[in-house]
Amino acid sequence: MITVTFLEASGNRIEAHANAGDTLMQAAVGAGVEGIAAECGGAGACGTCHCVLPQDWFDRMPAPNSDETDMLDFVIDPQPTSRLSCQVSIGENMDGMEVQVPDTQI
Ligand code: FES
Repeated sequence: MITVTFLEASGNRIEAHANAGDTLMQAAVGAGVEGIAAECGGAGACGTCHCVLPQDWFDRMPAPNSDETDMLDFVIDPQPTSRLSCQVSIGENMDGMEVQVPDTQI
């Protein structure tokens, strides 16, 4: 089991437990993280699963594809390390990662 901590805009820290291969979005929704609405169910078409990763974790991951970067252009206040959480597959090496939920998604 892999633990990822989501930092909600309210300041709450929510620990989510996931299996390798789950997406960050699935982990967040399963844990009831506020601000990850995931309205399109993970199709990469809504942007309501926007999250911001720490720079070091962002750098370790494969770069987002062009479909994801195109959608990130439509989220409010995208950051250099923004990702669509539905497009990030959780690996064993992500245990302990912290993910920020933008305050634009309350
Ligand atoms: S759930 Fe819609 S873009 Fe991720």
